[in-house]
Amino acid sequence: MTLRETVEWQVRLFEKKDLDDVVRINMRCLPEHYPHFFYLNLHERFPDVFLVARTAEDEIVGYIMCRVERGFSSFGFLRGLARKGHIISVAVLPEWRGRGLGSSLVRQVLELMRNSYGCSECFLEVRVSSESAIRLYKELGFVRVRRNSSYYRDGEEAYVMTMKLK
Ligand SMILES: CC(C)(COP(=O)(O)OP(=O)(O)OC[C@H]1O[C@@H](n2cnc3c(N)ncnc32)[C@H](O)[C@@H]1OP(=O)(O)O)[C@@H](O)C(=O)NCCC(=O)NCCS
Repeated sequence: MTLRETVEWQVRLFEKKDLDDVVRINMRCLPEHYPHFFYLNLHERFPDVFLVARTAEDEIVGYIMCRVERGFSSFGFLRGLARKGHIISVAVLPEWRGRGLGSSLVRQVLELMRNSYGCSECFLEVRVSSESAIRLYKELGFVRVRRNSSYYRDGEEAYVMTMKLK
C-alpha cells in the first residue's frame, strides 16, 4: 500500500523484506540500536504504524516505527486513561534529509495512529541536542512536556514531547 507519492519518493507500510534496510538506516543515523526481533515484534503488533520511505529507484531511505500504549493522558487527569501512540524511532538517511520525508513519515503515522488504533494522543522522546528533530515535531504540533534525565544510556537528557490527536 502506498500512502503518499512524489516523483522522487513514496511512503508505504513496512514489509518484512525491508528489515535489513531499516536496520542499516538505524545503524547509520541513531545511537539507539535494537535486535531484529524487536523490529519484527513491533511490526507484528502494530503494522499500520511502521512505515518506510522508498525512492523511485526502490531504495529504502527512511523509516518510522511506533507502538500503541495505554496510560494516563499527558493533558490532565480529567482526560483519564488514554490510548497513546508512542514514536519509538524515526530516521532518514543524511543524503535524503531536508526534502520533507521526515515530516511526511511523522504526519502519516499520526493519522494512522488515530484512524487505525483510535489513539487520542501521541508522544515521543527526543535527545535535547536533536535540534532538527525537535523543530520538526514542534512544527507538527508537538509540545515539550518534561525533561527526562535518565533516558539515554550515554547520559544525554531527553525531552518528552506530546500532541493531541483528537
Ligand atoms: C529528524 C529527521 C528524521 C528529519 O528528517 P528529514 O527528512 O530531514 O525531515 P524534513 O525534510 O521533513 O524536515 C527537515 C528540514 O528540511 C526542511 N524541508 C522540508 N522539506 C523541504 C523542501 N522540500 N525543501 C527544502 N527544505 C525542506 C524542513 O523545513 C526542515 O527544516 P529545519 O531542520 O530547518 O526545521 C532526520 O534529521 C534524521 O534522521 N535525524 C537523525 C535521527 C533522529 O534524530 N531521529 C529523531 C529521533 S527522535
